[in-house]
This record gives sequence, C-alpha cells and structure tokens, in this order.
Amino acid sequence: MNVKPRLALAALVAAASAATLISTSAVAQSPKLKVGLMLPYTGTFAALGVAIENGFRLYVGEQGGKLGGREIDFVKVDDESDPAKATDNVNKLIKRDNVDVIVGTVHSGVAMAMAKAAKDNGTMLIVPNAGADAVTGPMCANHIFRSSFSNWQPGYAMGEVVAKKGHKKVVTITWKYAAGDESVKGFREGLEKGGGQIVKELSLPFPGVEFQALLTEIASIKPDAVYTFFAGGGAVKFVKDYAAAGLKKSIPLYGAGFLTDGTLEAQGADADGLLTTLHYGDSLDSARDRTFRLNYAKQYKLQPDVYAVQGYDAAQMLAIGLNAVKGDVTKKAEFAAAVEKSKIDSPRGAFTLGKSHNPVQDIYLRQVVGKENKVIGVASKGLADPGRGCRM
Ligand code: PHB
Repeated sequence: MNVKPRLALAALVAAASAATLISTSAVAQSPKLKVGLMLPYTGTFAALGVAIENGFRLYVGEQGGKLGGREIDFVKVDDESDPAKATDNVNKLIKRDNVDVIVGTVHSGVAMAMAKAAKDNGTMLIVPNAGADAVTGPMCANHIFRSSFSNWQPGYAMGEVVAKKGHKKVVTITWKYAAGDESVKGFREGLEKGGGQIVKELSLPFPGVEFQALLTEIASIKPDAVYTFFAGGGAVKFVKDYAAAGLKKSIPLYGAGFLTDGTLEAQGADADGLLTTLHYGDSLDSARDRTFRLNYAKQYKLQPDVYAVQGYDAAQMLAIGLNAVKGDVTKKAEFAAAVEKSKIDSPRGAFTLGKSHNPVQDIYLRQVVGKENKVIGVASKGLADPGRGCRM
C-alpha cells in the first residue's frame, strides 16, 4: 500500500479539526466590541458628558457587562465641546483606534462633524444628546441613531405652551450656534401657530456667560415673556443672573428643559418655579423610572438627569441592534431594521424612532419645585421631529 495518500489524508483530517477548533474558540471568545465614547469631559458641558457615560455603563452593567454577546472595550476622547477639534477627534476613534461604534456627543456643532465622518467611513454612530436637526434630517443614514431629541422638539413644545398662556410678545436669548438657533426656530413655530410673536432674538457666542448687557436689553424691551436655551454651566449662571437682575419677578422665564436639568443644586432658589419642556422629568413615578433611578443612585451616589437617561438608552439601542445581528456590527441593514421596529423601554417612557432615527416621544411640561423638575403635564404627546429632507 502506498503510504503517501494515507499520510496526506491524516494531515487533512488534522488540519480540518484544528480549523474547527479555531473557529469554535473564536466564537466562544468573540473579540470585545470597541465603543468610542466621544464626549465633553471639560468645559461648560463636562457634567453632561459624565452623566451620559454613567448612564451608558449602568445599562451595560445591568446586562452583565456584555451587549449582543460581546464584552465592551471603551476608548474615550474628550471633545471639549469644540467643533474646531471635532474632525480630528472623531478620526482618532475611527482610524487610529478602529472602534466598532461611536457614542457621542453633547454639542451640536461637534456632532455634525461626527455624523459626517460616520457617514464617510460607514461607522455606526449613536448620538446620546446633541440635538442638531441635520443629524436626523439631511445627514441621516441607516447607521446613525439618536437616543435623545432634536433641538426642534422641546422648543416647539414650549412655543405652544407660551402661546397658550397668552403671552404675545416674547424675547429669546441663547448661545449663537446650531442648538440655540434651532431651539429658537422650533419655539417660534409653536408660538406663532398659537398667535404669539418673537420681538427680539438675543444671543452671545458659545460658551460665553457675559449676560449683563443682554439682560439690560430685556429689561428695556419689557416683553411678556423670555424663552431661552442654555445648558450645563452656562445655564446655572444664566438662571442666577436673571434672578439677580430682578427680572424673575417681572418677566416670566421659560426654557428648553436643559435650563434646569442637572443644574438645580447649583441654581438653588433662583430656579424655583421655572417652567421648562423636556422628554424627561424627576417625578415620572413609573416602575421603570423608579428602578432606573434607584440603580443609578446606588452606583454613582448621584441623582440621574436627562443626560444619564439618554446615555442609558443609547446602550439599550445598541443592545437591540447587536442582539439582532449576534454582535456583528457590520450587518448594518439588519441592525437598523431591528432598532427601527423596536420600542425602547426608556425611563422617560417607552419611545420609538421616526424614519430618520430620532425619538418620537412625549415632551413633558415641568416646574422646578425644590431640587426637582416636577412633571406637571404633557406639553406634546408623541412628538415626532419633522426630519425634513432625510434621504437614507
Ligand atoms: C446641543 O448642542 O445640541 C445641546 C447641548 C446641550 C444640551 C442640549 C443640546 O443640553
């Protein structure tokens, strides 16, 4: 008998079983999923970035540290809420660190650069705050999702509220960048629909806090009401300065809810009574929210805010998509289909995504009572962003 074929056959069998072994162990320990967290860890939005990361990690922890069967490896970049550094920062995550998914960010200008890079490179992106209308408008893509809101949403809802209160002449004041402009645009739409008008749009560059001259101007215009978009450290200072200028007693101040979210400890009594609109509040009193708040407080010794919820829900959305593709994030169409048809079980109340991947959600009317944004009603039920111009 010729021994050569037998040897060759034995070698083939050995090679085949080695291959089987390798592929089985590769499945058993599929590589960690690299998640790039691009968030502000310094500057006026630093606390917002931390809350988003906390919320995201809380959900991952609740799932035993894995999403879609894969452990998570975090890579972090501090984007400093600086649009000028945004493209370099996001490219570090995509090209140097080779992340599978990017989660970020807070600032709309930075988020727009991230959405462009995500589109150009086909990288999965989940936006856990920044409301830039374009991200779920003209820049939408099947691998870009938002777990938060569009700037239009809380603004529009508050426009309707202020009009219903009978205020006719309103001054707006905000930072001059996409989020401020778009928040005011949404507000204008709701206000004008209800018969009110904006008599003056005031603004200052982001992240400036020199409000004095603008407050003097408001005092001289004497409008029926003021609408504002500020957040983080800037919101703390604005609320305090508005009260110190004596305006709180004479001209009612309204805002997108970021004005008083995560800020109440620092604002103290100066925030008392303020009315704002947002997709979360401190007194929802649902079983889902109670559990979330308890777990968050246990883990971080802090009360959660809207940013923590948005981070938590970004992780939930990632989990839904990953479960549908068994952890294979390259299957973008299947991933998107799963998230699109899901109901996200958020502490804010369950929500779905609109066709351009922005939450369709209730916008609550809240009032500051002590250290809480107490929910006193629903300003807009199931509000969908118009998502104008989205082409997937
Ligand atoms: C934004 O830039 O889109 C932005 C920043 C902070 C917020 C909300 C929106 O709290």
